Amino acid sequence: MKIALFDAKPYDRTFFDEANKDHGYDILYLEPALNHHTAVLAKGADVVCPFVNCTVDREVIDILKECGVRLIALRSAGFNNTDYRYAASLGIPVVRVPAYSPHAVAEHSFALLLALIRKLTHAYVRTREFNFSLSGLVGIDLYGKTMGIVGTGKIGRAAIDIAKGFGMKVLAYDPYPAPIEGVEYTDLDTLLRTSDVVSLYCPLTNDNRHLINARTIDDMKDTAYLINTSRGALIDSEALLEALKEKKLGGAALDVYEEEAGIFYTDQSNEGIEDDTLARLISLPNVIITSHQGYLTREALMAISQTTLGNIREFEEGKELTNQVK
Ligand code: NAI
Repeated sequence: MKIALFDAKPYDRTFFDEANKDHGYDILYLEPALNHHTAVLAKGADVVCPFVNCTVDREVIDILKECGVRLIALRSAGFNNTDYRYAASLGIPVVRVPAYSPHAVAEHSFALLLALIRKLTHAYVRTREFNFSLSGLVGIDLYGKTMGIVGTGKIGRAAIDIAKGFGMKVLAYDPYPAPIEGVEYTDLDTLLRTSDVVSLYCPLTNDNRHLINARTIDDMKDTAYLINTSRGALIDSEALLEALKEKKLGGAALDVYEEEAGIFYTDQSNEGIEDDTLARLISLPNVIITSHQGYLTREALMAISQTTLGNIREFEEGKELTNQVK
């Protein structure tokens, strides 16, 4: 089996090479993300392995089919970038890694939240310059505050446990609620109106693009903090920027951004960025942005590589595909 692994970073190679000791596949590590310009690089591969900022639309799938690709093995949980129905219609199944470490992402969302509310990025820069003044660094307690969890799947539940540990009251919204001890389910409007922190843990679907927009931000408390470690397009970034400029929100921490493809995972420090909305968001003192790194722990990377190669093994052996996107 020959595998073309797109958007490959040095840490992908480390963990895939380790997991591949059990399989011995021929893995071609390709730096570019998969899109209609780069899809031809898959020529001769049986499997392509895209990541979150690859585009796997009809055009790309047609090229992959011509190149002889027989399986699309996403090394991510989210599959919003992949037209899996079209791929299936051409006889190319799509598999993914449904869970690798929900804790990695949930913990990162709290790392962002704590950094934001305790102004850690400002404090860090100050003390590095031997400025030990505390002016402007007043934060808030999480204890006793209300945490609004949007999406109570694997990551949302891990986040609920963390929120409870901080002594927060937890409100949740999910179209498919499942009883969780100590969690009150409510509608999205009530959650947005009453939460001190709103954190998104739901997938991006055709129905929830810009779930957080000018109207829904208007419903939120002016002091509320918004955290997004799910997918960028859940938030209307322009509306978020406007709200922050008008002080209609306490702050925002984003691990994902709706136009992140082509920017995140790259070093743009010499060129700067053309996306003015992102540049302006980054410039605000009450915004923290990380480059889609919620999953980036040793445990998660190990699980991603093992599950991906396990998915490919099932395909090679003609077994039922446990992690097929249907
Ligand atoms: P999951 O499938 O276990 O749970 C998702 C939950 O969201 C389900 O309970 C579902 O009913 C609910 N949901 C669906 N539509 C909703 C809506 N409109 N409003 C509220 N809830 C809704 O997924 P998991 O593993 O918890 O992952 C969630 C998302 O996190 C992924 O889809 C992915 O986009 C993102 N993610 C981000 C990573 C990062 O590095 N920042 C890494 C891994 C996942």
